[in-house]
Amino acid sequence: MKKRIVVFTGAGISAESGIKTFRDSDGLWENYRIEDVATPEAWRKDPKLVLDFYNQRRKQALNAKPNLAHLALVELEKKFEVRIITQNVDDLHERAGSSNVIHLHGQLNKSRSSLNPKLIYNIDGEELNFGDLAEDNSQLRPHIVWFGENVPAMEDAMYIAQTAKIFIVIGTSLAVYPAASLVDYAISAEKKILVDPKAELPYHIDDFELIRSNAGEGVPKIVKQLLEEFI
Ligand code: APR
Repeated sequence: MKKRIVVFTGAGISAESGIKTFRDSDGLWENYRIEDVATPEAWRKDPKLVLDFYNQRRKQALNAKPNLAHLALVELEKKFEVRIITQNVDDLHERAGSSNVIHLHGQLNKSRSSLNPKLIYNIDGEELNFGDLAEDNSQLRPHIVWFGENVPAMEDAMYIAQTAKIFIVIGTSLAVYPAASLVDYAISAEKKILVDPKAELPYHIDDFELIRSNAGEGVPKIVKQLLEEFI
């Protein structure tokens, strides 16, 4: 039975692929107000602005490529059972080859009915536009978890975090809940690592090994070490 490694990622792991983070300088939330583009109220008020915001992010994600950090996590699967839990809505983990990815905050390459959350569709290409309808004739919306909406995958994610023998956090400011609370669920992990150039942990967490480094450099190093260490 392979040891389970759970990897919890945020926007920082995609930064070196050219995708902006949210809260770094010149981050996404410096150029857009969350309430204008990433809430249910924004969708009701100006759906075209919201669709345009996600069309731009989808184009950026489509032009991005997985970086050394994404690729290193795939290598881990040689000796470990790896579960990726990501806050990211890009598909760089999947394109790198990771076989088990949970998206807590949705996916840019999917849309869904604005009435029935169970009607989910793939978006081929870059655009989702006003007038694109679901089979229930409602306007298709981005399959993204907006601020104020619940996080359907959180229950699974908490359970998976509890079973991790090794828990690795990469490139997240741990600023958004409930996602950030995952670090509290890694209760059976023998090893906990956080990779971030500004590695900071909430005050109540002190049992993480902090690696102050970009993901592209820090993650391959950890992966090499884990593959050598754990037979
Ligand atoms: N390598 C690793 N980490 C990096 C890199 C890098 N090259 N560049 C930046 N970082 C780190 C930053 O130091 C920061 O801690 O990535 C983190 C990015 O934090 P945020 O921009 O807040 O992104 P994230 O934590 O993923 O945001 C969580 O907030 O807006 C919502 O839904 C959105 O999923 C997102 C959630």
